[in-house]
Formats: sequence, structure tokens, C-alpha cells
Amino acid sequence: AMRNELTHLVSTATDPTKKKEFDQEMQSFFYLFTRYLADRAKGQDLDWDRIKSPGADQIIPYDSLPKKWDAAHLSKLAVLKVNGGLGTSMGMTGAKSALEVKNDMTFLDLTVRQIEHLNTSLKVDVPLILMTSFNTHEDTLRIVKKYANQQVRITTFNQSRYPRIYKESLLPCPTTYSDNKTNWYPPGHGDLYTALSQTGVLDQLLAEGKEYLFVSNSDNLGAVVDQSILQYMAESQSEFVMEVTDKTKADVKGGTIIDYDGSVRLLEIAQVPSEHVEDFKAVRKFKIFNTNNLWINLKALKRVMDTEGMDLDIIVNPKTTDDGQAVIQLETAAGAAIKHFRNAHGINVPRARFLPVKSCSDLLLIKSDIYSLEHGQLVLNEKRMFDTTPVIKLGDHFKKIAQFQKRFKKIPTIVELDHLTVTGDVYFGKNVTLRGTVIIVANEGQRIDIPDGCILENRLISGNLNM
Ligand code: UTP
Repeated sequence: AMRNELTHLVSTATDPTKKKEFDQEMQSFFYLFTRYLADRAKGQDLDWDRIKSPGADQIIPYDSLPKKWDAAHLSKLAVLKVNGGLGTSMGMTGAKSALEVKNDMTFLDLTVRQIEHLNTSLKVDVPLILMTSFNTHEDTLRIVKKYANQQVRITTFNQSRYPRIYKESLLPCPTTYSDNKTNWYPPGHGDLYTALSQTGVLDQLLAEGKEYLFVSNSDNLGAVVDQSILQYMAESQSEFVMEVTDKTKADVKGGTIIDYDGSVRLLEIAQVPSEHVEDFKAVRKFKIFNTNNLWINLKALKRVMDTEGMDLDIIVNPKTTDDGQAVIQLETAAGAAIKHFRNAHGINVPRARFLPVKSCSDLLLIKSDIYSLEHGQLVLNEKRMFDTTPVIKLGDHFKKIAQFQKRFKKIPTIVELDHLTVTGDVYFGKNVTLRGTVIIVANEGQRIDIPDGCILENRLISGNLNM
């Protein structure tokens, strides 16, 4: 039935070139769908008892990486940002990377600054490649247009657009090629490999003499080119390197590297049987998690695509449509590709290489005086007395970006803050300073306004504010 529906979908595309691309896209989707059906019939494919913590030789400490670098490797490097996601958990409807994060610059602007600095200071020509989706393509082009004549060559390509599937009938939601946007989805960053090869970008990079690809999330401003990792890639002949970092109690969700019958694999929370989820979250057994900063040997990628193909573990993402129907999205994660490569490793990097914005609490931290910018890179304020950054917990009233923007007239000064919890209907005035531990709780039906110029140090505020 799915096959017939897809054939029909393809027949509704009228433009011949688009039709051809779309046909190829639907074939890739159909292949993913048949793998999903096979997985369902077979049951859980990972046997929990065979999962072990990775061995010491599988995770390399960052400090042990080469300290001497051959800058020639940079001529074989390209940087890719996965930029197909919307940041729906922050209530965004456009590309998250188009969000202004600091000094009126967006994630994309800052990334361009970082690469520009690399290229000018080291006299190299590292290109920037952006993978967009049908959801983010226009936002992205609007921003990168400004950089047409700068020191950075920017290439964009679109990832796949797959049909959502009704959970019950297992039939596709869209009925025509140009059906409503909400019936389609970008199938996760694991789509990177298929999209790179189907758009011809992989062959183009190889033809230009590129050998290494550094991939990271577009919202991770800590993911700057690191020459010691690149040097390690070259010296160790490692075909795939995953940057991992130490897990804290707050990092319960990120995927982790496991040893599975002696080989390195990625384990995502969605793959963990429910009775083992607590085990998975515990910091003891799985000490590190995937930052999604990945270094990939492009020749090896070409080999994998041409021979075995990139069968990545399927993540089933359940959603509900606006009219209340249960649908699923079949997705994959880029890090899962690790199992296809030879001599693949994890490198345990400092936390500073993983500074994503997953929530408005993360955004507050990055916008604040805790960080300043140097060539698009976040640098910890030297006035900060500790190595750690403050723990910030903004409640549900601050969940969506529009709410966040409305509730902070200006970002408070927090260089001396350790901990901030805000719950309920709270508004911050201008030039507010927060120090030590600050907890602000507005109960149901109450509103708290922190006045302009207010300094709060080790304060618990609840109910009405009388200051
Ligand atoms: P995530 O989907 O893991 O997190 O994307 P997110 O950006 O916080 O999105 P929400 O809030 O869950 O919606 C991690 C990175 O992968 C990219 C995103 O753009 C982001 O940089 N991504 C995600 C893609 O490029 N394509 C996808 O299909 C999904």
C-alpha cells in the first residue's frame, strides 16, 4: 500500500527535474520505511546484556592529542553545520540558527565570523557548508546572502523531505507533491549522508581535494575548528571521530558511545527499552555523551555510501497533527554512522566545545555577560571567579522565545550568579543584577516585577515583592 501511495505522490509532481529528484527521495524514504517494518517485526535489535561501557582505547582524552599541528591539513578540511531543525521546543517557527544570540548576530552570523577568522588568521580557505531543510532554507539564504563577497565560501544544500505517516494505517499523510508543509518532515540530522551524496556535494568536495568534514549542530557555538583533533584524524587514520564530553546530572538525554561486541556504537535514549532508561540516564555506567561534533573522512564516507550504504538505527518520533491524529516520523541521528567506519573513536573534549541552545535558559546564559565574543567565539568572562557557569532554570512562562523576549527588558548582569530559578509570571526590568543563589517564585494568579536597577543577592522571592 505504501509503495502505491508513493508512486501516486511522485505522479503529482509536474516539473520534470523536480519529479526526478522527488522520485529518488521517495525511494530513499521507502527503503527507510521497509527497514522500519522489518525492525518492528523483529523487535528490539539491541540486546541490553551485550551493551558495555566503552573501553579506554575507544575514548581518547583530549589532553593526549597531538600538540604539534601541520597546518596543511586545513586545506583538506570543510566545515558543515546541520541546520535543518526549527527549535520547536523553544516555540520557534523559523530556523533556530536565524535567532539573534549576541550583539545582534544570529548563530549563522557567528559561525561565519568563526570561519572567517580561521581563514584570515591562518591564510587558509576552509569552506562552510550548510545543510538546510524545506523549513529553514529561506531563512538561511537570507542570512548568508550578506556574505557573498567575504572570506568564506558558503554552500547550502537541502536535506530530504519525507512524508509523515499515520500511526494506525501506516500510510503517508501528504497526498500530493505540493501538499501542506505540516504533512512532511526533515528526517533528522542522520539524513546528512544521503543528502550529501544525492545532492552531489560529497563528490564536489572530493573533487576539490577535501578529505575531512567537521560536522556540528548549528546552535553549538562551542564547535570551532580544532587543529589538534584534525591532526589526530590525520595521524591515526581514524575514519570517524565523535567528540564526547563528561555527562552531568542535567545531561540525561544525549546519546552515548557504547561497546557492542567489541565495536563502537551510538546508543540514543529512544533505543533504550523502558526498563533500562534509568540505567541509561545514570552517570555511572555511561559517563560521557555525544556532542554531535563529528569528524568524518570523506573518502571513507564515499566508500560506505557506494558499498554497504548508510543503514542508521531508526528513531521513531511520535507526533500529533493539529486535528489530533497520531502520526510518526522516521528519523536517524548522524552519530549512529560511527558503526560503519574503520578505526572510529570518541574523543573526550572539554565542555566548552558543547554550548548548545536547547532552551531559553541556555539562551539567557549565552546572551549574558558570562560570555563575550571574540571572532564569533564565546569566551568566558575573566571576571567570573569559578570555572563553572551558573545553573539557570527558567519555568514554563519562559519556555517560548517570544515569552522570553517579553519578560526580560534587558538581560541581567549575572557574572556573580551561581544559581537562578524562576517560576511563574515574572518580569525583569532593566539593569538588574543577580548574584549567588536567586529563587523567584510567583504563585498561581500572581505577577512579580523585578524593578529596573534591582540587585538581588542570595534572595528567595515569593508572593508579592515589597522592596
Ligand atoms: P535537534 O532536533 O536535536 O535539536 O537538532 P533542536 O535544534 O534543539 O530542535 P528541537 O527543539 O528539538 O526542535 C540538533 C541539530 O540538528 C539539526 C538542527 O538544526 C540542529 O542544528 N537538524 C535536526 C537537522 O539539520 N535536520 C533535522 O532533520 C533535525
